[in-house]
Amino acid sequence: MEKTSQNQSSQSRKVDAKPSAAEGLRELFVDELKDIIYAERALVKALPKMANNATDPDLKMAIEEHIAVTENQVERLVKVFELLGESNRGVKCDAMEGLLKEGESILEETEPGPVRDAGIISASQKIEHYEIASYGTLAAFAKILGENEVAALLQETLEEEKEADTKLSDAAYNSINIEAAEGE
Ligand SMILES: [Fe+2]
Ligand SMILES: [Fe+2]
Repeated sequence: MEKTSQNQSSQSRKVDAKPSAAEGLRELFVDELKDIIYAERALVKALPKMANNATDPDLKMAIEEHIAVTENQVERLVKVFELLGESNRGVKCDAMEGLLKEGESILEETEPGPVRDAGIISASQKIEHYEIASYGTLAAFAKILGENEVAALLQETLEEEKEADTKLSDAAYNSINIEAAEGE
């Protein structure tokens, strides 16, 4: 009984759509593509600072490599928009803005060295997981919509993001977290 009344609180009320709301799955798909291209472009700009602030040479290299990979992912998305006949103008991605802001505060709150490196890995993995979730959904939407060429391109990026995530995990487990803990 109690539960029902809680669910009816003002915060759980149904939301009225904006006049510009997506009318179907295809429109939602394109909207989410605009979100991820914004996110990838923001990353291309933000990653060099992450790399410059990393001390461990393997971590620095992994991030630098991912800058090139990310630039290529932007190009791949441009191709996706071309195939769909849509403009590739991005729309601000609040999630990526937030993740990047968190990364910035980690830099401000740590000295260069293993602890900052551990923080950079933590921030980067949150970003990778956001991308993995986004591309997983986008590839599934593309398949359902019968956009097979687009689905294959999105799947390719999804694999790259998973690989980047694994590399970051390896860097963390192999040495960085241990060094960071040894400094305690
Ligand atoms: Fe990416
Ligand atoms: Fe990525």
